[in-house]
Amino acid sequence: MLTRIIGTGSCLPEQIVTNDDLAKIMDTSDEWIASRTGIRKRHLAKEETTASMASEAARRALKDAGIQADEVDMIIVGTITGDYITPSAACQVQDKLGAVNAVAFDINAACAGFMYALHTAYAYLQTGIYRTALVLGAETLSKIMDWTDRSTCVLFGDGAGAAVVQAFEGAEEGKMSKESRGVLAFEQGSDGAKGMVLSCRGRVNNNPLMENPFAPSYVSMDGQEVYKFAVSTVPASIHRVLEKAGLGVGDIKYFVLHQANLRIIQSVAKRLKADADKFPVSLDHCGNISAASVPVLLDEMNRKGMLSRGDKIVMSGFGGGLTWASAVVEW
Ligand code: ACO
Repeated sequence: MLTRIIGTGSCLPEQIVTNDDLAKIMDTSDEWIASRTGIRKRHLAKEETTASMASEAARRALKDAGIQADEVDMIIVGTITGDYITPSAACQVQDKLGAVNAVAFDINAACAGFMYALHTAYAYLQTGIYRTALVLGAETLSKIMDWTDRSTCVLFGDGAGAAVVQAFEGAEEGKMSKESRGVLAFEQGSDGAKGMVLSCRGRVNNNPLMENPFAPSYVSMDGQEVYKFAVSTVPASIHRVLEKAGLGVGDIKYFVLHQANLRIIQSVAKRLKADADKFPVSLDHCGNISAASVPVLLDEMNRKGMLSRGDKIVMSGFGGGLTWASAVVEW
């Protein structure tokens, strides 16, 4: 069985907020944010919701793939900021697209959410349960930020990215595998013991029978611990997935990493002894969009014509949970 990404799409909110715009409402500066993170601006939702952006990204990905909504067998959304606890963002996307034949559910793996969703879809496709999957990462992080905490709120943005993934077998597989073998290998992991390094308790509890009902809470992060986790775990994960695929760092055209921080990306490049040019960047104009960052970057690369049939790329997500996941894909 050959599983290939056959289309991508993305959607960012209309509103663009620069570092200078933030400096007007809090004690920060373009110099502080840009020098420590590489972020210059981000898109923040006004009217948009997680489901509305995800649906638009999905429509664009389906158009790119030449697939009709009723051909989709499954929709998986990686998100920690669905508009509702239930219905899931994936069920909302199903409804908005009219993808009546799809099973739909969300995955909570924070910034690794798209990669977890992709791996899950891959498993369904490889076993022949389904043929066509719509895999998304979609976030409205601005609604879970503490806007009085300048150390976190300046880092994040909103947006959604999507990929259409399809399985091919038999004669079709034989024909296509001459150009590209599609997804070659996956590697993923979790470390729940370090979960509180990056946390968001979320909902209000007003249960009068509880001793300590809790107030709303927002994202809280030990930035330096997250940094240490990322720069050690991501290169190790990439080495493992490359080994599974029987490839080396030199075989890879692009490393499409979760866009948390430019320093993390540069450090991963250095540890892998890979050229920094092989690490495309979108965080300068998107900020950190958690689960959406890998598929939004992938779509930008696709639309710019940076990817040719047969190119080998690594995709890697890492974040809250703690979670991480990497894949090697032949485009
Ligand atoms: N503007 C101006 N000053 C600020 C800001 C801001 N937005 N935020 C914090 N500061 C100040 C602090 O108050 C502190 O001041 P003090 O020394 O007077 O107390 C000073 O800057 C240093 O603060 P630190 O938190 O120690 O800053 P640090 O140098 O560690 O940089 C950062 C913070 C950029 C978050 C860094 O820890 C980092 O890169 N961490 C990686 C984690 C990350 O990128 N997380 C993203 C989300 S997680 C994920 O996606 C996996």
